[in-house]
Amino acid sequence: MPTITDAAALPTPLGGTLVRRLWQPGQDFDPAELRHLPALELGERAFADLEMIATGAYSPLQGFVNEADYLSIIEHLRLADGTPWSLPITLPVSHDEAQRLHGRVLLTHAGETVGTLDITEKYPARKVLEAREVYRTEDEAHPGVAALYAQGAVNLAGPVTLFAVPRGAFPAQHRTPAEVRQVIEARGWRSTVAFQTRNPIHRAHEYLHKVALELVDGLLLHPLVGHTKGDDVPADIRMEAYETLLGHYYPQERTLLSVYPAAMRYAGPREAVVHALSRRNYGATHFIVGRDHAGVGSYYGTYDAQDIFSAFTPEELGIRILKFEHTFYCQSCHQMVSPRTCPHDAGHHLVLSGTKVREKLRAGEHLPPEFTRPQVAEVLRRGYQRP
Ligand code: ADX
Repeated sequence: MPTITDAAALPTPLGGTLVRRLWQPGQDFDPAELRHLPALELGERAFADLEMIATGAYSPLQGFVNEADYLSIIEHLRLADGTPWSLPITLPVSHDEAQRLHGRVLLTHAGETVGTLDITEKYPARKVLEAREVYRTEDEAHPGVAALYAQGAVNLAGPVTLFAVPRGAFPAQHRTPAEVRQVIEARGWRSTVAFQTRNPIHRAHEYLHKVALELVDGLLLHPLVGHTKGDDVPADIRMEAYETLLGHYYPQERTLLSVYPAAMRYAGPREAVVHALSRRNYGATHFIVGRDHAGVGSYYGTYDAQDIFSAFTPEELGIRILKFEHTFYCQSCHQMVSPRTCPHDAGHHLVLSGTKVREKLRAGEHLPPEFTRPQVAEVLRRGYQRP
């Protein structure tokens, strides 16, 4: 089978070892005995971050970042020790909460105890700086900036422990990085391309997968199922659409559907870097970055999320970035194309914006087969018609 890498089948996690901060019997404390501790309720994003850290998806992070790492990430796209890292993974709280909380804190989510935080530092969030550098805009219409401005003014830092992996709404496809690595090993894939998505899989995505599958052994279809903005297609509809598509059009033994539990920040280029580094932790050797990866509105240039990777050496990244231009169906070529492969002008091309797609679905219309496979279009249409 052809591959474009002679590298070992599984890349080393970022930082050398897969972080594991899951509570185990015999650890220095028992969750049942921590009820006397002050508790902090986590929102969707912080709970997702807790899981990402504790399962090693965010290796080498052991907890919410301290001030030195925070500033270094914002200013240099690196942790204070120089390791590439582009998004500040912080735990913001209000001034009052920051005063109330010290030492070991019980973390809760939806009222359930889910883990602990050992506070090592409290420091002020630099919201404007973070907005400008991480999101490249101070505009509160940007969903990531809006979330940043709405959050508390003080960041808590320190190592975390997660009591149990929350398998969520899709338990059969909810695998930790260690579990994904086991599947890759069991399947004997020498190279694995990971694909991040927060959308249904359209023909353009499928084209990227299949071009990549000509070159690597396996595809890790890794849809983000953490918090997304209100008008993105809900994760349960997407999951049904992914399974339907894989069942009809993909080689089963060369594909793995697994969920990526992170929350979406819409930080475009900055988020693309963490998306890639995290997929390395999951065991991928390659990562697809197409047009406007993790973008929203028109805040980022079409290929900004590709260009940002030039800030790092290939060795530092430890995962190969497969960069694709904007792809779409050409009525004259009768196939998926990109500006690199098609001689026809825009009048021959079928390009549907996300807004247009949602409009059609809300109106109960079918998406054209050149845009979405009919079986997927039907799942989406039904999903949008439910009460
Ligand atoms: S994202 O927020 O997860 O990036 P989306 O699910 O739309 O959004 O995209 C998933 C991946 O496919 C990203 O790498 C994105 O750049 C790429 N992509 C999406 N649509 C296209 C397209 N038409 N042409 C090329 N790449 C695309």
